[in-house]
Amino acid sequence: MPVLNELEKIKKEGKDKIFIASSLEELESLRVSFLGKKGKITVILKSLGNLSSKEKPVVGKKTNEVRQFIEGELIKRKKKLESKVLERKLEEEVIDITLPGRCFPVGKRHLITQIIDEITDIFIGLGYKVAEGPEVETEYYNFDALNTPADHPARSLMDTLYTQKDGVLLRTHTSPVQVRVMEKTLPPVYIIAPGKAYRRDVPDPSHSPMFHQVEGLAVDKKITFGDLKGTLEVFAKKMFGTDRDVRLRPHFFPFTEPSVEVDVSCMMCGGKGCRVCSGVGWLEILGAGMVDPNVLSEVGYDPEEVSGFAFGMGVERIAMLKYGVNDIRLFYENDLRFLEQF
Ligand code: PHE
Repeated sequence: MPVLNELEKIKKEGKDKIFIASSLEELESLRVSFLGKKGKITVILKSLGNLSSKEKPVVGKKTNEVRQFIEGELIKRKKKLESKVLERKLEEEVIDITLPGRCFPVGKRHLITQIIDEITDIFIGLGYKVAEGPEVETEYYNFDALNTPADHPARSLMDTLYTQKDGVLLRTHTSPVQVRVMEKTLPPVYIIAPGKAYRRDVPDPSHSPMFHQVEGLAVDKKITFGDLKGTLEVFAKKMFGTDRDVRLRPHFFPFTEPSVEVDVSCMMCGGKGCRVCSGVGWLEILGAGMVDPNVLSEVGYDPEEVSGFAFGMGVERIAMLKYGVNDIRLFYENDLRFLEQF
């Protein structure tokens, strides 16, 4: 019977082709060509009906045998190919544990925060506590309670940013915190008040409408000007180095009497005079003075009983002097190339 020869040929062809099939796709198209709807074996199965009753069982049996053989070969080859695919995948996905890890950038504290922390640490070491107050202040705390009534000429020295609400402004200094603390505490008071201050300034290398201050206040029995000077000397040496000198120049602030501006000997030239100190050998670092008796009375303290000193410094200015930064705007631009240096 020629059909039996045909089946034998199909079997051999299947065996050979399946053996060399090199991909799962190829194997699938081979399956279709033998066992699919129009596949070689399917065609023969369909034609069984045309055979005589004698031929039918013989051919039927052979066809089934060949079909099972092809199916078996397909499964064997499929397993082989699948394991090859897996092997290749594993090879490709191999992890090179000798590669160095990826470095994630680690953030750090902003230079201004670092300086505030440094100043704070120095004064905590001297027994001071940290106090904070609101940035949106009332005229009362920012000016009136600090011996600066509405008609006081010193008010116009501060370029104040007012809100639309009458009597409410952005604090021009952190000095109002002094008043808020004294109102609530009996002397002795030893505090520093770090925080933001605002002034109506156009940004330039040395001005910014927002900047940071640290205010200090000591009120106790028998506080003298000598205490102020000694405290500031300790601070200047800890902040800028032990060989720094401090000098006080007479100045005016409404809330202190007498008032001084405090200079530290130039850390660049040691006092000889250079570009940083404009040839004078000294750099101004803060304002200070003995708390005006009016300020003490305003919060209910007895100026005959207690006295005090206060000082206030610009954090940006301290940072600029310490690190030779020549433009205050660099602190707010958040350029990592700048920030990462500190
Ligand atoms: N508040 C002052 C300023 O902002 C600084 C200062 C504080 C001066 C305390 C004297 C005493 O300029």
